[in-house]
Amino acid sequence: MKKIILFADPGIDDSVAIMYALLNPEIEVLAIVSSYGNVDKEQATDNIAYLLHLAGREDVPIIGGTNAPSSGETPTYYPEIHGEDGLGPIRPPEEISMELTNFSELYTIIRDNKGLTIVDVGRNTSLASLFLLGEDLTEDVKEFYIMGGAFFVPGNVTPSAEANFYGDPTASHLVMKEFNDIYLAPLNVTNKAIITMEHVQTILEMTDHPLVQILDDVMKYYIDAYKKLVPGISGAPMHDVVTLSLMVNPSMGKTIRRDVDVLTAGSGMGTSIADFRVSSKPAEKNSNIYLELDYEAFLKDFIKVMSSSGEK
Ligand code: RIB
Ligand code: CA
Repeated sequence: MKKIILFADPGIDDSVAIMYALLNPEIEVLAIVSSYGNVDKEQATDNIAYLLHLAGREDVPIIGGTNAPSSGETPTYYPEIHGEDGLGPIRPPEEISMELTNFSELYTIIRDNKGLTIVDVGRNTSLASLFLLGEDLTEDVKEFYIMGGAFFVPGNVTPSAEANFYGDPTASHLVMKEFNDIYLAPLNVTNKAIITMEHVQTILEMTDHPLVQILDDVMKYYIDAYKKLVPGISGAPMHDVVTLSLMVNPSMGKTIRRDVDVLTAGSGMGTSIADFRVSSKPAEKNSNIYLELDYEAFLKDFIKVMSSSGEK
């Protein structure tokens, strides 16, 4: 069983990642940090509260993360991919809301659960803040699983930059430079984690769990958006879900140990760089980049977890 703190900005694939984490018997969600990203922080918080309500898991605290990138610029949101409110066509009922827990509570949760894993599937501003505001986490956090960057493939917001790293490149640069025990799931791997409406139908035929019932509408919106972006694509990439799936099943992918740099300015802003030359050496610190994914194993795991009862 892995104990995790999940940093997210839901967002459709973040929302499905939250469902996956709550349902997976191998994962115990200690807290979810809500931040700006695909939508603003307030909307992200309402979406997390709605998902926790559907799961009957209001015991999981929602921690208030950051509102904007460290540049101070107004964030760009992506309603054309995630919907106006981040859940495709779904608007969470107004009567469902949860109080935000103070960011400082994260230090207590980390201290009380030594050896936990931190998973960040959004912009890295909140995660970088954890370092900037507080203590050295290296003793207490076992590993950081991060969705971000792109190697050997184009970016998804600029020719070379991926959305999470582009959203706050200064924060991503800091995280990659200062943190240890990093496992990075970049676009070259997450783009392959395609889920189709046929897969969704298979899941829905196997479960009547209230949390999963919104999957149909949410995934239809997300897949339609991707079909406009990438002609010929059969479904949509579950960037954030596959990051969690790799955390639970690390051998489902192949990694290479390399330092990662993130460009913070210029036309390459948000671009991730690592040295893959034959003459290059493994990173001195434990910094790992996923380069390959066993797609069939991911698909099997996704369908199994999403159609499960959620009993731990
Ligand atoms: O580039 C993919 C990432 O950006 C995912 O985390 C997705 O939620 C989007 O915001
Ligand atoms: Ca995300």
